[in-house]
Amino acid sequence: MNDSITPEATTTAPQAARLNEPVPAFTARSTQGDINFPGDFAGHWVVFFSHPADFTPVCTSEFMTFASMEEDFARYNTKLLGLSIDSLYGHIAWLRLLQEKMEYRGWKNVEVRFPLIEDIKMDIARAYGMIQPGEADTQAVRAVFIVDPKGILRTMLYYPLSTGRNIPEILRIIKALQVADEFSVATPADWVPGERVIVPTAGSCGVAKERMEGAEEGVECIDWFYCTKELTAETIEAAIHTDPADVLGR
Ligand code: BEZ
Repeated sequence: MNDSITPEATTTAPQAARLNEPVPAFTARSTQGDINFPGDFAGHWVVFFSHPADFTPVCTSEFMTFASMEEDFARYNTKLLGLSIDSLYGHIAWLRLLQEKMEYRGWKNVEVRFPLIEDIKMDIARAYGMIQPGEADTQAVRAVFIVDPKGILRTMLYYPLSTGRNIPEILRIIKALQVADEFSVATPADWVPGERVIVPTAGSCGVAKERMEGAEEGVECIDWFYCTKELTAETIEAAIHTDPADVLGR
């Protein structure tokens, strides 16, 4: 990233973003200088999200929340990156106003320090499927793309214009993805760190039998295909916690 002004956004990848594949690459202007995505973010997880428009109330509440939780994401090696089909100067004016005037859930004087991309030509929004014409054909919907340190797309979420996102849920997903990678387990509905995790389903009749006979220490099965084990919050923290200063550089 640098602070110089360069031409509008370009993307080399017209294909749609797809799970478990490299994300479409692009360069763009942002409120924190030029962005080369995903290259500039290599080694970090990224929450790349679109919003419909600057100077709108739901988006304002979301940005106040994302910005207030930036350090919580950084504790899990995660950076934030926003986009809308507005101009860079519109972004700058809106972010200044958020800090000067807005208050949400007790947060005020909130500075948005993560980059907000301009995408007036909608090239990036189209490449990521952020335009859902049934919802709006001139604005991006509230899309969320969670990208891993190797630039692979790991999660996609789509919300309509009227519904603000649950930002702690996005952080919960990042923890679940990192736990899945680190411990080769899956996580059940509504899981939060400290709750039991799901061990991979038995791939043979022999393993299924052993599991039901209690042969694997610490593994408990309700039936052969649904087996869980304990994974403490402390173990998880030791494995995935990051110093926010290493991520944010401040
Ligand atoms: C909002 O952020 O408030 C909003 C944006 C576009 C359409 C509807 C609501």
